[in-house]
Amino acid sequence: MIIAEGIYSMDGDTCDLSRLIELKKRHKTLLMIDEAHSIGVLGPQGRGIGHHFPGVDPNDVDVWMGTLSKSFASCGGYIAGSSALVRYLKYTAPGFVYSAGLPPPNAAAALKSLELMQAEPEVVEQLRQRSRFFLDCLRTRGIDTGDAIGAAVVPAIIGNSLECLKLSEALAGRGINVQPIVYPAVEDDAARLRFFISALHSEAQLQQTADAVREELARIRGDGSRPEVSL
Ligand SMILES: Cc1ncc(COP(=O)(O)O)c(C=O)c1O
Repeated sequence: MIIAEGIYSMDGDTCDLSRLIELKKRHKTLLMIDEAHSIGVLGPQGRGIGHHFPGVDPNDVDVWMGTLSKSFASCGGYIAGSSALVRYLKYTAPGFVYSAGLPPPNAAAALKSLELMQAEPEVVEQLRQRSRFFLDCLRTRGIDTGDAIGAAVVPAIIGNSLECLKLSEALAGRGINVQPIVYPAVEDDAARLRFFISALHSEAQLQQTADAVREELARIRGDGSRPEVSL
């Protein structure tokens, strides 16, 4: 089985879905896509990466998986696929056989989010626009954003775990909540802050945040505290 993420949670870039489909057909294997970060973000009405690339048939992906805890503002997850796969999982997956399934309030909250995305696709478009805006804000301030395409997940690659922790704390002091991703989740020289952008972030907030990243990083690096030993 080939398993990939729709939007990669650490880098904010996408997989090349057409090539993965080509690969899975060539090797007669199965393809599973984790849409935790791409459902509600990519494609018209936030339908996900299966609707993002022209010419891709979502039926060519055998297992679609996602969480309800991000764009759907709920808790729990889903697996989608052919009716044979869904029937198989209903009879064998522990969530159905041994323990309680998804509580109705969580299912209702996720369903409402889905309905809102269908009714108000402009909100999804605004999320992408704001994400690209923030990506540009960081880039123009000389911050390394790696391969990010500007779709909800935007990393600021700091390149040192200790500096990254200090920066996250300094930004919290300025009212900005962004969590550090440090070694061993990523290589020490790829330690980063991972920003999650929402459609409700204003351009002014995003600009101020990018300014704060640049200022605090300069302060941390300039005050002689650059660590000699990395984590
Ligand atoms: C790529 C990916 N898949 C799945 C999940 C699972 O989400 P949760 O268990 O929080 O619903 C996450 C959560 O961060 C994720 O980043």
